[in-house]
Amino acid sequence: MTVYDTLLKRLTREPKTWLVTGVAGFIGSNLLEHLLKLNQAVIGLDNFATGHQYNLDEVQGLVTPEQWAGFTFIEGDIRNLEDCQKACLGVDYVLHQAALGSVPRSIADPITTNAANITGFVNMLVAARDAQVKSFTYAASSSTYGDHPALPKVEENIGKPLSPYAVTKYVNELYADVFAKTYGFNCIGLRYFNVFGKRQDPNGAYAAVIPKWTAAMIQGEELFINGDGETSRDFCFIENTVQMNLLAANAPDEAKNEVYNVAVGDRTTLNDLFDALQSALAENGRPYVRKPVYRDFRVGDVRHSQADISKAASKLGYAPEYRIMDGIAKAMPWYISHV
Ligand SMILES: NC(=O)c1ccc[n+]([C@@H]2O[C@H](COP(=O)([O-])OP(=O)(O)OC[C@H]3O[C@@H](n4cnc5c(N)ncnc54)[C@H](O)[C@@H]3O)[C@@H](O)[C@H]2O)c1
Repeated sequence: MTVYDTLLKRLTREPKTWLVTGVAGFIGSNLLEHLLKLNQAVIGLDNFATGHQYNLDEVQGLVTPEQWAGFTFIEGDIRNLEDCQKACLGVDYVLHQAALGSVPRSIADPITTNAANITGFVNMLVAARDAQVKSFTYAASSSTYGDHPALPKVEENIGKPLSPYAVTKYVNELYADVFAKTYGFNCIGLRYFNVFGKRQDPNGAYAAVIPKWTAAMIQGEELFINGDGETSRDFCFIENTVQMNLLAANAPDEAKNEVYNVAVGDRTTLNDLFDALQSALAENGRPYVRKPVYRDFRVGDVRHSQADISKAASKLGYAPEYRIMDGIAKAMPWYISHV
């Protein structure tokens, strides 16, 4: 039995109260679904900046009425300390996901990204510290590796940030470390690497590559590759990310005040990703026959990304269950029925 299996059994036996910020977003709503299915009590905080009520409605349809009754939603803003304090009341574990994602969004509007990702983060730290929660797990980012050229990425070796977004996520780590040293409040940062799966928004200028391309393919639209297509990423299916959040929340004290890579340890180029999505759609009876259109590299993008996940494996017992092709196969029917 894996560490994760043991944890799931324990949580089912002894339910806890969780706060998921950003609960109406992609990762937040998937955390909500898993926690409710484990009969946990969940408080959700979101201001619908990029999240959607229909994500919450979809989760409601996937759990029992009794499980749904365990969910309390607070429409609020992490930039407002009072909203954070209200949300932290009586909470055992915080999974802080609320932030404005996207490198291009942060380049277009660094002030708004800074307010949500830094002011909002400090508000959440203060509120969670004062509420004496058992643990505080937050969404960090692989963008923190910035211009460091080494592959695979090891937690200790980071470069300079390449975008305002990357700055905000690095500042989160610095604040978390200072809160550990100053107040003895130990957090865990999860450096997500390109997470994908159901409920990831395919719409808008700042959509992530997998939902954006999948939607374009389903609709038979033109699809763009930024650069030569040899840019690579370590794509991480959402189920692995959920596993890591639950493991981190329940980590032993010696594993806290640390950051961990959350990925698979693989590297997939955009050209290979295009082929993979095309094949998965063909298998689902939705062939896409157009060729991708190559255009300029995108400013602020890291060229290659691949994680070393050995720290998460050894300190938290993380064992990703899905590689990219498994995840794409699982996610594709959802995209076909939702696009
Ligand atoms: N998806 C990825 O590949 C990835 C990679 C690295 C890091 N992350 C981080 O993971 C977290 C979740 O990302 P996601 O992909 O689910 O994005 P998402 O946009 O789907 O979810 C973010 C949620 O936070 C909410 N939010 C934003 N600002 C808020 C505010 N001021 N107050 C309250 N709620 C607010 C949004 O409405 C949304 O529901 C973010 O912190 C993001 O930076 C994601």
